[in-house]
Amino acid sequence: MHFPQLQITTFFTLFGVDPVNSGLQLKFNTAVKLSVISCRKNLSLAPMNVFTDKAVIIITCPKRLAPYLEQEVKELGFDTDDTFVTGVRLTGTINDCIKLNLNLRCASQVLYSLKQFEAENADAIYKNLLDYPWENILPDPGYFSITSNVNNPTINNSMFANLRVKDAIVDRLREKRGTRPSTGSELTGAVINLFWKNENAEIFIDTSGDSLGRHGYRKIPGQAPMLEALAAATVYATRWDRRSPFVNPMCGSGTIAIEAAMIATNRRPGLFRTNYAFMHLQGYEETIYLKEDALLEKQIVDLPGLRIIATDYSERAIDNAKKNAIAAGVANLVDFAVCDFAATEIPPDVPGIFYVNPEYGERLGNIKELEETYSRIGDFMKQKCGGYMGYVFTGNLELAKKIGLKAKRRIEFYTSTIDCRLLEYELYSGSRTVPKEV
Ligand SMILES: C[S@@+](CC[C@H](N)C(=O)[O-])C[C@H]1O[C@@H](n2cnc3c(N)ncnc32)[C@H](O)[C@@H]1O
Repeated sequence: MHFPQLQITTFFTLFGVDPVNSGLQLKFNTAVKLSVISCRKNLSLAPMNVFTDKAVIIITCPKRLAPYLEQEVKELGFDTDDTFVTGVRLTGTINDCIKLNLNLRCASQVLYSLKQFEAENADAIYKNLLDYPWENILPDPGYFSITSNVNNPTINNSMFANLRVKDAIVDRLREKRGTRPSTGSELTGAVINLFWKNENAEIFIDTSGDSLGRHGYRKIPGQAPMLEALAAATVYATRWDRRSPFVNPMCGSGTIAIEAAMIATNRRPGLFRTNYAFMHLQGYEETIYLKEDALLEKQIVDLPGLRIIATDYSERAIDNAKKNAIAAGVANLVDFAVCDFAATEIPPDVPGIFYVNPEYGERLGNIKELEETYSRIGDFMKQKCGGYMGYVFTGNLELAKKIGLKAKRRIEFYTSTIDCRLLEYELYSGSRTVPKEV
């Protein structure tokens, strides 16, 4: 029997953090001590129940979203133990993972640690996992999948590592139960995740399955849509008070405006999803999930008078955006219009938010035309958005120079392959002029 609380010692190295050089040693030692104490209390209680026994939880997220994810996790009432470049670490149970899965906007996967071990090669992975009591984790009959994050010199195809994990689990279950579980690549059932860097391996229950980064309401993505998790994080990064107008020209499929409406009214991604990997674990009882799910409806806030405006010059984009807003339950909160961005209504005399995500030449758009568009965005913000905070999300800093205004903040983000910035402009009203870019 493995007690995950005893196994956090190599975690920092696994996730690329050097505890000594990062000054985390003290916190780390304390965490280990506390874990050992809590583990000792559990020694008499076998077998382990992952729904109620605490272990290390890693919540992964796209690069640069971790600070926003950390904030979300804390707002849900959890203490975090560490935040690293692609995630957050805390301690908790699978029941905690249920709450996290339903509520988080910036996360990708919620992983619950089962075991850490050293593995030189794929055979060592097999041997270590053959010993694990998978019959306590995976139901009979059942379907499971393996995912992994592998960086080991003996492996040039992570599928091979996945295969060895699968073989170990299947062999163990066949020996204990006499039946062979079904397996496959669709993340529709239980999911076991291997993290393996050099000789350090860690095996997790992936409690999410399909990524949480997609929020489930976007039926028609349109051209160059932003990942919902990224859109939510960029809205968090603005100075929006969630009450004043939020104006989103060039809205495309509407992701930014829809995420803004969901954040303001406290609508969580769990409202649109009915299948999670935690539902396919041995011992899963629906009551905890149903309780958390019911809370999602109860916590929605009604905000009469909230103005969210989303426009695009493409009629098709606005059609798609409306359909997505209907699916997200926020169609009545967003005023859509088909128009050039410069014809977008800007509610006057309020400290609103103006947020555009223009094309940036990587996948769409012609650079000469885009230079003109960026320059017009700068003029429009300066002339029509006095008193607002202006935001431009772009992956092309050369084009951004054409805006011609001095950014107050340049907040770093990342799309799948592109280094991006959310540029913030303070747009003064009255006689005070907006500083020019120098
Ligand atoms: C990068 S996409 C926005 C994607 C959006 N954030 C999403 O998640 O779907 C840029 C959008 O700007 C629109 N657009 C480009 N030039 C425009 C203009 N001059 N006025 C209005 N919309 C424009 C395009 O139709 C496209 O939908």
